[in-house]
Amino acid sequence: MHILSPSYVQICVACLLVLLFSCQSLNVRYFLIGEEGKLMYVNYDASTSYDGGIQAYAPSNYTSNVAMCLIVKNETIYMDEWVDFHVALGFSPIYIYDNMLAPDLELALWYEKRKDLHKHVRIIHFPITPVQVPAYDMCIKEDAKNSTFIALFDIDEFLVLKKHNNVIDFMEEHCQEPKCGQLSVNWLMMGTSNETVYQPVPVTKRNVHTDGMWGTIKTIVRPTYVDDNIGWRHSVYLKKGYWLDTRGNIINNKGWKRQANNEGPSDVALLHHYSYKSEEEWNYKNCIRGSSLQNRLDKPSLCHRKILVGGKFFNDDAWQQLKRMVPGKYGAF
Ligand SMILES: *[C@@H]1O[C@H](CO)[C@@H](O)[C@H](O)[C@H]1NC(C)=O
Ligand SMILES: *[C@@H]1O[C@H](CO)[C@@H](O)[C@H](O)[C@H]1NC(C)=O
Ligand SMILES: *[C@@H]1O[C@H](CO)[C@@H](O)[C@H](O)[C@H]1NC(C)=O
Ligand SMILES: *[C@@H]1O[C@H](CO)[C@@H](O)[C@H](O)[C@H]1NC(C)=O
Repeated sequence: MHILSPSYVQICVACLLVLLFSCQSLNVRYFLIGEEGKLMYVNYDASTSYDGGIQAYAPSNYTSNVAMCLIVKNETIYMDEWVDFHVALGFSPIYIYDNMLAPDLELALWYEKRKDLHKHVRIIHFPITPVQVPAYDMCIKEDAKNSTFIALFDIDEFLVLKKHNNVIDFMEEHCQEPKCGQLSVNWLMMGTSNETVYQPVPVTKRNVHTDGMWGTIKTIVRPTYVDDNIGWRHSVYLKKGYWLDTRGNIINNKGWKRQANNEGPSDVALLHHYSYKSEEEWNYKNCIRGSSLQNRLDKPSLCHRKILVGGKFFNDDAWQQLKRMVPGKYGAF
């Protein structure tokens, strides 16, 4: 006889919640129109001073597309910049999994304001916890399964391309069939630039110092090559093809090393990772909210660990890329 494992029970509870809240989410629109949505922080609201929509870069010659799976939990203050950046770089569609217990009203309000993005961005309420594997599973096998490629990035990660104008050309050059099942990009860890408090200024402009590249990677996968058991650990298991980096090297790392490509390349692409931002935001994320890897009631594990980094070397590549891609909106900063 099979006994339900805790994770199944959890998923069933989550299903109930999804049902419950999907009824409620019909009211979200009405609530937002009827009353004023309250934001804790006032975001730099560029959508009021900028009347053109964000234009996605068209790929040069290809008919393929690169989708994105993004999981968020009360991170709407960062949404505008991150989505502008990645849509302008050619990512589409972007599936946003809202991991708040009840659908995030601030996120719904943001989405309502950014009608120019509706053809690229979809929001899916997804209160399951721990969230990563079930959300990526649904994204790769259902929501984005018809896409040529799918990126599994977070809202504090920005893809900086050194040799391409858009992510489609980048993937077509570096992740070709039948060899490439997923392409990894190394983290460039961005420090706080000694910022102590949140400011309503783009993150890529606030944090412009780094201590250098990490071995940690994230991947962009080819969904038709991904194994049924994705076994997500920054990379996925493949049923065919290989895990490559931009040198064309096959990476064979096993176990926990599946999240790393030590001494990986940095000349073609880097994933700038803004994990700290400012002392205030770091404390909120790690002492109050908890990380998305944890169960909802677990005590945050990184709280008070003295790992905040200022960053020694100046690097504003991500900010320059954003200004180049979306000059009308970000040129003003
Ligand atoms: C697009 O195709 C043209 C003609 O086949 C080729 O010369 C050019 O290099 C291609 N561009 C890219 C970015 O692949
Ligand atoms: C969302 O985050 C803000 C800080 O950014 C916090 O003040 C607020 O309480 C959070 N909301 C919920 C519902 O957790
Ligand atoms: C994927 O493509 C198939 C075949 O064209 C179509 O029937 C299906 O609805 C598509 N699924 C999604 C999620 O786009
Ligand atoms: C941050 O503060 C440290 C210690 O005061 C200082 O050495 C460093 O130069 C500062 N970095 C920046 C980017 O201001």
